[in-house]
Amino acid sequence: MKVIAFYGSPRVKGNTHILLDEALKPIEEKGHEVISFKLNSMNIRPCQNCGGCDKTGKCVIVDDDMQEIYKAIREGDRFIISSPIFFFALSAQTKIMIDRCQAFWAEKYLLKRVIPEGQYGRKGLLLLAGGMKKDIGIKCAETTATAFFRTISVPTHETLAYLEVDAKGEILKHPTALKDAYEAGKRLIEI
Ligand SMILES: Cc1cc2nc3c(=O)[nH]c(=O)nc-3n(C[C@H](O)[C@H](O)[C@H](O)COP(=O)(O)O)c2cc1C
Repeated sequence: MKVIAFYGSPRVKGNTHILLDEALKPIEEKGHEVISFKLNSMNIRPCQNCGGCDKTGKCVIVDDDMQEIYKAIREGDRFIISSPIFFFALSAQTKIMIDRCQAFWAEKYLLKRVIPEGQYGRKGLLLLAGGMKKDIGIKCAETTATAFFRTISVPTHETLAYLEVDAKGEILKHPTALKDAYEAGKRLIEI
């Protein structure tokens, strides 16, 4: 099984980075192929809403790091997004990548071509952390991530979200988060 993992935080070894590493442990233990993307260090231009993908399902921007993500999304069986909550939403790093998937949206909804499923089907996992108590950030991020998953023909996903986790690495003190992430990783590769 091919598992595609997106690190959406600029903070290396921050809370969502730790959660994603933990979710990947059972997946790597079972020998699945993991392709991960550290979005903060990638060169990805934001969507220009030029309409170029409407008739082709392909983005007109062909010379940035999104090309390897397009390939991975086509070939993947499982997809994990990890993102901090920034201003009640997914991080900009994550959102730029998602917006460029407008090309998949055009392919699916305008051209009526669905990305073919592999033999294991497609499933997703969303990992979120926010420093505040308010859960509106989780709701907003969840809404955007759901649109992303459905656009890339991932019909179901699980979400783990932690609030009031702010300082770098604070998630390590959470009573269940690491175990939750590990177990979610295990469930993700169930067929
Ligand atoms: C620019 C910025 C905006 C933020 N906005 C929110 C917010 O709206 N809601 C929230 O709960 N936390 C917010 N936070 C706090 C982060 O979500 C929190 O520190 C989180 O644990 C970071 O995860 P990371 O370590 O994986 O980057 C914000 C932090 C930054 C830097």
